[in-house]
Amino acid sequence: MVNKDATANTDQLPEAELLALLDRTALPRHIAIIMDGNGRWAELRGLPRIAGHTEGIKSVRDMITLCRDLGIKALTIYAFSQENWKRPAIETNALMMLLEQYLQHELDALIETGVRFRAIGQIDSMPSSAYNWVRKVERNTAHLDKMTLTVALSYGGRSEIVDAVRQLAQDCMDGKVQPEAIDEPLLAGYLSTHGLPDPDLLIRTSGEARISNFLLWQLAYTEMYFTPTLWPDFRRREALLALLEYQTRERRFGGRVSDTHSQSRT
Ligand code: FPP
Repeated sequence: MVNKDATANTDQLPEAELLALLDRTALPRHIAIIMDGNGRWAELRGLPRIAGHTEGIKSVRDMITLCRDLGIKALTIYAFSQENWKRPAIETNALMMLLEQYLQHELDALIETGVRFRAIGQIDSMPSSAYNWVRKVERNTAHLDKMTLTVALSYGGRSEIVDAVRQLAQDCMDGKVQPEAIDEPLLAGYLSTHGLPDPDLLIRTSGEARISNFLLWQLAYTEMYFTPTLWPDFRRREALLALLEYQTRERRFGGRVSDTHSQSRT
């Protein structure tokens, strides 16, 4: 259902008015974000790239708070791709340290606000102290259900699918699954995002318009929102603009407008 109010010119409106325009009954259930542009944000200010990543954490906090405030149950952010290991060690080490500090600092707040933390990706390729913090925060928040924050770390969408298929093949060989029983929901259950709805909205910042090996299976019917804003500048107001733009979209899942109520994905 399209939110007609959201089609008005919203660019100049203050945050409170943007909030008032939002149709609370038509929010995405799951938002995925490719947080891009931290390096450029820092370079534009003559700062080291890591300063952009540090500032980007403030945007992460804003997004978690906004999703919690609006009752959006799932947020998945791409913090580190498998390809990011190709960056100079000084940057990858700093990113791992930042992540560890973030987890140490934020654990209590996540628990207090009911946020479950999950990591997806090849976590075991991370340095052991960051790995241990990821597992600790996952364990300590596993019972929480106000919202799920999933952080993709050392993540690649193709290798996620390969891992799922390998496990499924093993289960077939062990007689646990009959090949004829394999369908989309069954395969989705082998992905690291099992239990989460597919994202309704993907946001990518910094003007790039690519998926970059993120959630390749899960994004099949997702609405895409690309903005030139660099990630450290993507704060609450920018997020509200993205949500209002999302509410102008007709989601048809390959069907006709009249079919959307059944959400048949043909
Ligand atoms: C892309 O910007 C961003 C990253 C590779 C890392 C994102 C990480 C954070 C925001 C901080 C850590 C996250 C958490 C959850 C604590 P880029 O460096 O590719 O920017 P550029 O394209 O301008 O060079």
